[in-house]
This record gives sequence, structure tokens and C-alpha cells, in this order.
Amino acid sequence: MAPGESTSALEESTLAVGESTLALGESRDAEFDDGTALLRRGTALPGAQVLSSAAELLSPGAVLLSPGAVLLSPGAQVLSPGVVLLSPGVVETCTKRPETLRARCRDERILLVTSIVQSARDARPDEWWRSAVVYQVYPRSFADANGDGIGDIKGILGHLDYLSMLGVDVVWLSPVYTSPQDDNGYDISDYQDIDPLFGTLDDIDKLIEELHDRGIKLVMDLVVNHTSDEHAWFEESRDPESPKSDWYWWRPAREGHEPGTPGAEPVNWGSAFPGPAWQYDAARGEYFLHIFSRKQPDLNWENPEVRTAIFDMMNWWLERGVDGFRMDVINLISKPEVEDGPETPGTGLCYDLSRLADGPRMHDFLGEMYESVLKGKNLIAVGEMPGTTLEKAASYTDPTTGELSMVFQFEHVDLDHRAGNRFDVTDWPWVEYKKNVLRWQDGIGMGWNSLYLENHDQPRSVSRMGDDSPQFRQASAKTLGTVLHMLRGTPYIYQGEELGMTNYPFEAEGDFRDIETLNYLHHAMQLGAPAEAVLPGLAKGTRDNARTPMQWDGGVNAGFSETGPWLAVNPNASEINAVDQIKDPESVFHHYRRLVQLRHDEEVVRLGEFALLLPDDEQLFVYTRTLGDEQILVLANVSSRPARLPLGLPDHGACEVLLATHEIDDVDVLAPWESRVVRLS
Ligand code: NOJ
Repeated sequence: MAPGESTSALEESTLAVGESTLALGESRDAEFDDGTALLRRGTALPGAQVLSSAAELLSPGAVLLSPGAVLLSPGAQVLSPGVVLLSPGVVETCTKRPETLRARCRDERILLVTSIVQSARDARPDEWWRSAVVYQVYPRSFADANGDGIGDIKGILGHLDYLSMLGVDVVWLSPVYTSPQDDNGYDISDYQDIDPLFGTLDDIDKLIEELHDRGIKLVMDLVVNHTSDEHAWFEESRDPESPKSDWYWWRPAREGHEPGTPGAEPVNWGSAFPGPAWQYDAARGEYFLHIFSRKQPDLNWENPEVRTAIFDMMNWWLERGVDGFRMDVINLISKPEVEDGPETPGTGLCYDLSRLADGPRMHDFLGEMYESVLKGKNLIAVGEMPGTTLEKAASYTDPTTGELSMVFQFEHVDLDHRAGNRFDVTDWPWVEYKKNVLRWQDGIGMGWNSLYLENHDQPRSVSRMGDDSPQFRQASAKTLGTVLHMLRGTPYIYQGEELGMTNYPFEAEGDFRDIETLNYLHHAMQLGAPAEAVLPGLAKGTRDNARTPMQWDGGVNAGFSETGPWLAVNPNASEINAVDQIKDPESVFHHYRRLVQLRHDEEVVRLGEFALLLPDDEQLFVYTRTLGDEQILVLANVSSRPARLPLGLPDHGACEVLLATHEIDDVDVLAPWESRVVRLS
């Protein structure tokens, strides 16, 4: 770094490393955990050479590079543009964005370096989302103000004080744009208008204003992997002579096949809502790609005009005052080669979303989006990424590249799917889940995790991971909240999760509304399965479990609407509802309120390093979070039987209890679904 130049927040930050705390830029020796010491600037290191005047040695493991610095050494490993591990490894440079150097491999020493730098990064004032709790509103099911049985923006406006009481920092609003509603708004026909079902642009402006007045930010859902087939862009694109003819993925029929006949699809890709991912369009005489429903054609991001149109639209929303975007299936925007994949047995198609995910130009496209839209604006940018990997997620969220704030990944919510099928599930595999949490908590490195159990696509966590019997429903809802919210990352609360809402007792085809569920049922029946054999799996796995109306009170339609709602209210609304829980200090709602408060109050909850204890224990989920000399212990019984804590855990009997689900009778025994958060030091 040039003398006197200040290019990084690292310099202003204090680092807590092992036993030592020191200010960066401070030129003194300090012992690290591994016995190495912080070396003074300019110290020569054997086996590694930094060939740049723009580099500053921070420690034996870390070098700060200011923009333009070049590191040339066979014995160095680049973790990020700012951090280089000087131990045997590989330097990988990315030429697309000159300042971006990416890590390729990890070892124990990297973890040390990562935690040093991350602690400093965490202090960056513009990364407010690291301390935030996000609340997801699925507008169709939240609150209906105009009495048509479908939730709307005015309905949300009527419940903002509830969100304030819960204490959340951000609302993520699922799509309210103009849409034929084939996939409940994830099929958009006009990005710059609001569907009359939900209200008007004036309503959205009011929502932004009223949320901001309460100190809550608004994140819009950004669905730009695909549009609706009723979007003007697609309608124009169907004409091969139009300037937009290349805005979607058009391909001719497979060679030697009659277009439009079975098996003539260009390649064998299967759609996420079963059946071929290609639809024949007679007007154009070609097929278009739709990874989701046939009313959701995939946009062709390879075309620069498409990207410009999307970035312009995003900027238009930012000018209206929104605070960021949750980007729907954003890792599908760069596609692989259009060629056949391996057949999923017995289907004739290749159903493997991960083959379509994280295509070769992801960093180009996201980098361009960053430069054109996100850069320097203090936003939250969340990438929903099915099928992504830990390594990829770490690279998308590396704070020094700035592409995304965090990734919404799927590994943990797929753990109970047999053969990747959400309609064929096992009991919740707690040991596997804990190990998966550990993998992501540790492995995200300098990046950042989203923390979630529920959203509009997942069944209710109490029914899936907890115990929704009347005896344990409340305790298990609280403890699921505890184990999730005490992790490192940004927690998401899906509407009703804070009340412990449960799955609905679906029985018949007519009970469902979700396109994925109904398509699956019809597809299975076409293949010869009797409906009775399929329905129980649908009931457990359907996305409609998350979409039953919000249970505001125990009255008519649970206070959601004056009219019969678009999807039935759960019959347990008289026992599980917001009005009752607000009055009861021991309710799930107040437990969630305390969880949010703890994150706001305790730096160790926001930034502490995670360590998993008892990894193989099937009943107990126990971990610590550590930041400098602060440490908390999270103890949870994730079963419906009492659990005795084994010997060897940190001594916690006399420690301050920050949060507990039960009165503590015996410090060494946890009741079914009991959890505690204890301050160790
Ligand atoms: C992910 C969304 O969360 C889901 O609801 C939707 O069906 C697909 N993307 C397609 O947009």
C-alpha cells in the first residue's frame, strides 16, 4: 500500500485473534493461536514473495493488497483481493475483474487468516445486513384488506406495528408485480407495475415510507431468470424477425424429429415442475426453455440488451426507495452448453437442477450487475441459489468482490428428501443437519450465510423438524428458533414461523393450489400412480403448507380476510394465532422477539466464531460462539425425550442465562425441546 494511502476499512478496525487484540496498522508483534507472530511491514518471508509496492504484510498469513497490486509467488495462496495466505498453495487470478483474485483451496491456516480478516470486515459500516434479521412476507397469504380472499399491500400496511414489535430489520416481499399468477407472482409480466390483486404503485410507495419510518428496510423479490410468457418481451421474442428474437432460449427441434411431437425437444432437460423443460411454440416454429412452468420462459442473459433492461429496471426500483433485492434462482442465469444430460432413471429426462446451476458466466453477469446497480449503495443483495456449492457461495459473497451480500442455499433443506424428491421425505436427520451447519458456518470463509428453516417454498419447520403435537408444539417451535438464530449469518423469519404455525392437514387434490404440487400429482398419475399413493407425500412436502393464511386471531378466517381465502386456513388457528401470543409472555412470538433482540444486543451472536460440540449426538444440538474473550453456549434438546447433558461440556451451571425456553430445574438435564443460551464469559 502506498504510504499514507487509506484504502481499506481493515485499517480502522480492531482485530481479535486468539488471545490478542490489536488494531490493524499497529506495528507491533503479537502472538497468534498457532504460535506465529504479526510481523512488521516489509518482513521477508521464506518461500513467498510479494512483488508489489501496493502490498502490505499484515501477518505471516495475511497480506493486504490495495487495488492493482499483483502477487507473484508459487508459495502463496490468494483468499480474496485483500488477503493472501503465504503457505504452499496456488495463486489463481481472475482476469475478468482486475481486482478479483480467488481462493482455490483451504487448509487450517486459512481458517485463521479468514477469521482475522472477517472480524475486521464485520466492522464495515456499510454491511448493516450482517446484524439484521429479515422477515419474509408472502403477500398472497399475509393479510387481505380489500376482502377478495387474497392478501394485498394494504393488508401488509395494517400490520407494520406487529413487525416493529417483533423487532425485525428488513422485510423481504415476495413478488407483487403484474403477473398471470401461474406461480403466484414468480411469473412476471410487468416488472414496473403492481398486480391489481395486490394494489398499486402508490401502495408500494406508502409501504416503503411506512417501513422506513419504523426503521425497517424493504427488499423486493427480483425474478429475472425468467419472465411470464405474457411479458411483452416474450411476446415480441416469439417473432424471429423482432429485435428481441434472441432475448429467450430458443432452439429448433431435435434433429430428425417432427417439431412439437413427443421426444422432439432440443435436449432432455427436465423442468423443476416436472415434464420437459422445453415448450414448442408454433408461432415461432421453435422450442423455448422454461426451467420452471411453461409460462415462465428463461431469459437469455448472454444477450447484453437483456442485461441492460434488467439493470435499468433494478435501478428504477432503487430510485423508488427499496433497499435491496432477493434474487430468485439467480444462479440459473448463466446456462451450461445446451446438450443432453444423464437420464434420471425411469423418466426419460435429465432432472438435475445442479447441472443447470452456476454456469460459466455467473461472475461476469453478477459482476456487471454489481457495477451497474448495486455498487456503493449500501444495499442487501441476496442470491437464491438452488444446487449451488459451498465453494461457489463463498465466492459469490466474498466481501471484497462485492457481488452479493449472501446466498440462500438449499443443502440443508434437501437433507430429508429421498432421491432429491421433496414429496418423499425421511424424518429430519438431525446429525446430518448439524454437520451441514458446521460445514457452512466454517466453510463460507469471508462470505456470509443466510440462516433459514422456512420460506414460501418449504413446509413448516415445527411439523418437519420439530414436534407439532399439542404437547411439544410450542417448545419445539421455540427451540428451532434458538438453534437457528444463534448461528453466524443473517436469520430469516418466514411469516407465521414466529407463531409456530404448522403444516395443514391436506387430504385431497382439491385442497392444493400450488402449481409444483399439482403438476407433480398429474405427472405421477400419467405415469400410472394412483392418486391415493401420491397424496400423503404431497401433504408433507407441498409448498402450500407455508402458504396457508397468516393466523392473526382465533376468529373467522383467522383474521386474515373477511371472505373465504384462496387457500384454506389451518384449523388450528384458534390455538395458534398472533393476538393470543402477543398477550402471553411465554409464547413462541415473544421467544422470537427475544432472539431478534439478542442478535441486536450481543456482538458475539452477530460475529462470533462457531464451534459444534457433540456432533454425533442425535438428541442434543450444542454449540459455542466466540468473539475475542466473549463466549456463549447454546444447549438444545432437539427431541421429544428428556436429555442428560454429558460430562465434558464447558462448565455453565453458574453462568448467566441469556435466553431459555423452560424454567431450569436441573442444569444437567434438558426437557424435551428445551433450549438455553448461556454466557460463558
Ligand atoms: C424460487 C421461488 O422461491 C419459487 O417460489 C418459484 O416457484 C421459483 N423460484 C421459480 O420462480
